[in-house]
Amino acid sequence: MGLVIAIISGKGGVGKTTASANLALGIAQNGIKCVAVDFDIGQRNLDMILGLENRVVYDMVQVMDKEATLKQALIKSKVSDNLYFLAASQTKDKTALESSKVKELIDELKSEFEYIILDAPAGIESGYEHTIEFADSAIVVVNPEVSSIRDADRAIGILDSKSQKVKDGEEVDKYLIINRINPKMVQSGEMLNSEDILDILNIKLIGKIPEDKGVIDASNQGKPIILDKNSKAAQAYKRVASRMCGEKVDLEDIESQKDGLFSKISGIFK
Ligand SMILES: Nc1ncnc2c1ncn2[C@@H]1O[C@H](COP(=O)(O)OP(=O)(O)O)[C@@H](O)[C@H]1O
Ligand SMILES: [Mg+2]
Repeated sequence: MGLVIAIISGKGGVGKTTASANLALGIAQNGIKCVAVDFDIGQRNLDMILGLENRVVYDMVQVMDKEATLKQALIKSKVSDNLYFLAASQTKDKTALESSKVKELIDELKSEFEYIILDAPAGIESGYEHTIEFADSAIVVVNPEVSSIRDADRAIGILDSKSQKVKDGEEVDKYLIINRINPKMVQSGEMLNSEDILDILNIKLIGKIPEDKGVIDASNQGKPIILDKNSKAAQAYKRVASRMCGEKVDLEDIESQKDGLFSKISGIFK
């Protein structure tokens, strides 16, 4: 039976869809059969980041409504044989989701795939509760900003009270990704550091992803940044994907890293 991992956040625009695409691909590159499902109905963009938008014919709501089979709706990645994608509906709104149908879809995905990555809408939106409903674990994405962390705390509250696992008396495992870290700003005190964030949220840290301009270009080109060997964000996503696959990979302290020759030289004179 596959493992269902929801990629969640409090507010929107923090990097859930980017993380979903890169982590699903990273997991697939580790030899694990994985599917990425876009649960952000009405705002689909996971298809674009994966470079598959032209291949979308059927979406997940049509599978739930039996207008198409899962096999008809699944789209195979162009870069990994282990990765498949299921698109969100563009036409229906978030109220199109019903618990019983979501469960049926998730169960079918669990029988086909080892890892099921769900790209969630933001925690304040109605589709969020359905995305977390049948999740085994969740990865909470935050930016190092107070508003992002406060809203993430609320999203965790909903996860811990409304997911099926919790209703059954179990716990949903929760992991944190801190995304868009600017090491210089952390060092100068302009940006929250990870210890402060962990103090507030008190969940396990699974990765720190640096701010990287290449992420936006890669997404626009439909080639997830993880494919770019020279990108620091790619290396960071790779480490998270390996951890998700059960490998022991040390957390890299990207916040205290100095980049470029100039900072190296200026460092000598400090
Ligand atoms: N590490 C990063 N560095 C730079 N830009 C990023 C990074 N992560 C995400 N972004 C950009 O932030 C924006 C929002 O990301 P997205 O994944 O769509 O967020 P969400 O799904 O949470 O709404 C996108 O333009 C994306 O390219
Ligand atoms: Mg998104």
